[in-house]
Amino acid sequence: MLLHLSTWPEVESYLTHRRAIILPIGSTEQHGPTGLIGTDIITAQAIAEEVGRRTDTLVGPGIPVGMAHHHMGFPGSMTLRPSTLIQVVRDYVVSLTAHGFRDVLFINGHGGNMSSLDAAFYEIYEQARLAHGEAAPPVRCEVCHWFLLPAVVALQRELYGDREGHHATPSEVAVTQHVYPKSIKIAHLDPNPGQADFFRDWRDFRDRFPDGRMGSDPSLATPKDGERFLHAAAAEIVARHGDFLNGV
Ligand code: NI
Repeated sequence: MLLHLSTWPEVESYLTHRRAIILPIGSTEQHGPTGLIGTDIITAQAIAEEVGRRTDTLVGPGIPVGMAHHHMGFPGSMTLRPSTLIQVVRDYVVSLTAHGFRDVLFINGHGGNMSSLDAAFYEIYEQARLAHGEAAPPVRCEVCHWFLLPAVVALQRELYGDREGHHATPSEVAVTQHVYPKSIKIAHLDPNPGQADFFRDWRDFRDRFPDGRMGSDPSLATPKDGERFLHAAAAEIVARHGDFLNGV
């Protein structure tokens, strides 16, 4: 069930027995010469919809632009400042809790969003405490970074070993190939992608990772692999967060 394809009476009815919603969050940023700019929201959206199907949970609109400052050296990348992203996350959650939603599970496709999500949750909790004290309505936020799930990491290792890398990875590209098979891109890839364990800002990032990849070989990706990642991630999210989505 998708919020944007529902009517308000349907949502009202859902809220009589469920208080959970899933929100995908991604990024709009370069993913190397063959990865789609929308990779991080495409993957988060697809996994969120699969988890929603498996648990009969409503899936709300995604946050397609995240904190991607370090990718701004490449055309097409967009970013929110961390402070903006924190406010966007807070306003999404507060809009929903005003109607009776209580349990919000973010499915995140982008590492750059992690610290802002944590900060946003504390903003939400603290603003409610300051405004209402003990009488604050209960709100519970959780996040799952799908690409860090143990089942996903195990599959990354099995299929790609060290060539998984850290950005524009074959695993995330594979998921986009499964979702959008007509948008599979092919380009020559330097066999030695940038390797570094540190970067400072957007200029430094492009100096260290000239084509946008961080140690990855996305030419290994296949749509079939993508389907495996999608289902491995969804299954583990249901196992880890299923009780939360059911209000436990
Ligand atoms: Ni990504």
